Amino acid sequence: MSSEGRSQERGGNGRKTTIVSPSNIAFIKYWGARDLESALPENPSLSMTLRSCHSRCTVEHLASEGEHEVRWRPTGGSLEEAPPHFARRIVEHLDRLREWAGRGGRFRVATENSFPAAAGLASSASGFSALTLAVLGALGEEVSDAKKSELARRSGSGSAARSVLGGYVQWPALVPAPDGSTDYAFQVHDAAHWDLRNVIAVVETEAKKTPSLEGHRRAPTSPYFAQRQEDLPDRLDAVRDALEARDFDRMGAVIEAEAIDLHVIAMTSRPPIFYWKPATLAVLETVRNLRDDGVSAWATMDAGANVHVLCRPADEDAVAERLASLPEVERIIVDGVGEGPIEEDSHLF
Ligand code: PMV
Repeated sequence: MSSEGRSQERGGNGRKTTIVSPSNIAFIKYWGARDLESALPENPSLSMTLRSCHSRCTVEHLASEGEHEVRWRPTGGSLEEAPPHFARRIVEHLDRLREWAGRGGRFRVATENSFPAAAGLASSASGFSALTLAVLGALGEEVSDAKKSELARRSGSGSAARSVLGGYVQWPALVPAPDGSTDYAFQVHDAAHWDLRNVIAVVETEAKKTPSLEGHRRAPTSPYFAQRQEDLPDRLDAVRDALEARDFDRMGAVIEAEAIDLHVIAMTSRPPIFYWKPATLAVLETVRNLRDDGVSAWATMDAGANVHVLCRPADEDAVAERLASLPEVERIIVDGVGEGPIEEDSHLF
């Protein structure tokens, strides 16, 4: 629903909504945009929604006019006013959603992550998914899944468009919604289709120096960008087929090659971006060694140094133990496919 035809209702309803939204890990990546500001991608991407790595966001709609209030809880800390660099994109998205809804008033927001933000663990995906859904709840807006996804995407984080859904998710859709839009995500399979695990080797917890938005912007300057675009339709088909057939080794090989391609493009962009650290290579080598030892494990990385190692449930302990034994690995997060965002009764304020 657009803002046209809405009553220009002013003021808040005082309803607080808290949403816990998981992050996701892309099997086929969004890297490069045809319209960066609106997060309209060059290519379809496909991801697995996680269950442990999440953002929690409480939103209250207030009747008074004035500035939005944005607070955050840094890892291990207490709720405090969010720093400007963090609050800026949130405030812009709040304005965008308020305009879409044709409402007045302002928002009070608090947010926290279960994992280090901006270190290649898709904090913008879970964060903007949780924020978008919590705003919709606080405004009492009921919309379709496609609309939720499209509104989350408008935050500028394309991966957030996928995090509003659980299981295995593709974005953008190939079939137009009733309003003609295809810029939303859809669920390819629910989480019950296949219980896959994601053992995350955290080798860096500091925010990355080059945000993914800048990576998208530079991607077309790489000489390998055009080749990847050519390869992607077949690659997406291969992942879709293997996912359908639950053929882990077939899918894993494609996913790992895809992640390496993204980083090759980043490293050959002008100017180049190196997300990998020496520890990233150590983890990638360990994943190959695990395979040599008969453990089926495949690696993928987003725009950061941390490595997501996909495996089946039976191999999870072996993978986690081997990765934890590496001195370069700061921490292991054991995650897996999840069912998507949920609403909670307890609030952050
Ligand atoms: O949603 P953004 O703009 O943070 O971009 C996501 C980029 C990757 O995480 C590297 C890939 C993806 O599809 O999630």
